Amino acid sequence: MNINITEFSARRQTLMAKMANGIAIIPTAPELIRNRDSHYPYRFDSYFYYLTGFKEPGSVLVLVAGEQPKTILFCRDKDIEREIWDGFRYGADAACEAFGFDEAYSINELDAVVLKLLANQAKLHFSLGESASWDMRVTSWISTLRTQARSGVGVPDEIADVRKLLDEMRLYKSPFEQAIMRDSANIAATAHNRAMQFAKPNMMEYEVEAEFLHEFYRKGAQAPAYTSIVAGGANACTLHYNANNAKLNDGDLLLIDAGCELDGYASDITRTFPVNGKFTAAQADVYALVLAAQAAAIAKVNISQHWNAPHDAALDVLIQGFIDMKLCKGSKEAVLENGDYRQFYMHRTGHWLGLDVHDAGEYKDKQSQWRMLAPNMTLTVEPGCYIRPADNVPKHFWNIGIRIEDDVLVTQDGCEVLTAKAVKSIADIEALMKN
Ligand code: GLY
Ligand code: MN
Ligand code: MN
Repeated sequence: MNINITEFSARRQTLMAKMANGIAIIPTAPELIRNRDSHYPYRFDSYFYYLTGFKEPGSVLVLVAGEQPKTILFCRDKDIEREIWDGFRYGADAACEAFGFDEAYSINELDAVVLKLLANQAKLHFSLGESASWDMRVTSWISTLRTQARSGVGVPDEIADVRKLLDEMRLYKSPFEQAIMRDSANIAATAHNRAMQFAKPNMMEYEVEAEFLHEFYRKGAQAPAYTSIVAGGANACTLHYNANNAKLNDGDLLLIDAGCELDGYASDITRTFPVNGKFTAAQADVYALVLAAQAAAIAKVNISQHWNAPHDAALDVLIQGFIDMKLCKGSKEAVLENGDYRQFYMHRTGHWLGLDVHDAGEYKDKQSQWRMLAPNMTLTVEPGCYIRPADNVPKHFWNIGIRIEDDVLVTQDGCEVLTAKAVKSIADIEALMKN
């Protein structure tokens, strides 16, 4: 992996310029126990990683803004004994050099060094409320400084949430980030195509899930970006279904929401296709409607539109379709107003995408208006339709659950669908599944 010191270092400089003064303390994520002495696979904190590129647990970034800005990493010591068991550790000196910090120290020196750095700072930038143990540690530093007040030591009188500044930075993806996201999207798109070719009636959902993991790992992705949803038939109408342990029935649809994480960046794709390779008439009707809703939404991903325009466009198409299919009654305006469409479409049409699958960034501006889309933002576009059995629903639609989700980059003159390689027209899906 390319560490790209220049870019990570430039992000730290940008954050310090935005802070203007004060000190930022940004810990990475803790290691988590899964059971007894087994850990979950380690995942760094996205904010910490965004500023460092450093993946080791037990690390903290400290930034001192102002006239003499300074970037400082605290990390685990080199430890030959532990490295024999757990693998390589940089140690402070090598990490300082490789990742371009001004200074680096052992994590064991954190309390002593931070107390010196925090003294006489007017403002502390910290993600208060994120972790009880870090909140307590920071509080203890401030308490210690207070005891030194009579010797003239100043205590920060303001704590600001450093995530607010970082969220705004993370919203706009650099060419370096875009390239990783394109690769992440391509791996996931290939996996979806592979699943369409692999799935057959009477297979189990987990067999198809295994195809995704196989494709993710063999292409170099480090993990799934989130728990994959592999939902046959009625299971697709459970939005966060992830048991993935049912049999795939001939004649049912299979909804798969699966993406990978590559060098920290998520892809997030949903495709829905018939288990036996051929849509029924009712399935094709609903699928064509969701696909048309997605096309209308993607057409609104451009810099003349606000965040919610793709959702509004998808809803407009879906509601008309629900009325035409006799799923909803009344005028389009009435169904929008009374919310009857929510029986079949109960989620929003997308979210920011990046280091987190539901990525950082506000959706509204300071005036509480939907923010305008701008070049280099990345988002998903994911309308759906989920039809549970109900008295007001024609029987041939029962248990059809469809979502179609792509990842999109806003460009100067429209948008780029990063996940375009995952086939999605009815004709392309049926042709692929014939092979
Ligand atoms: N896979 C998570 C989502 O689509 O939001
Ligand atoms: Mn999504
Ligand atoms: Mn998804």
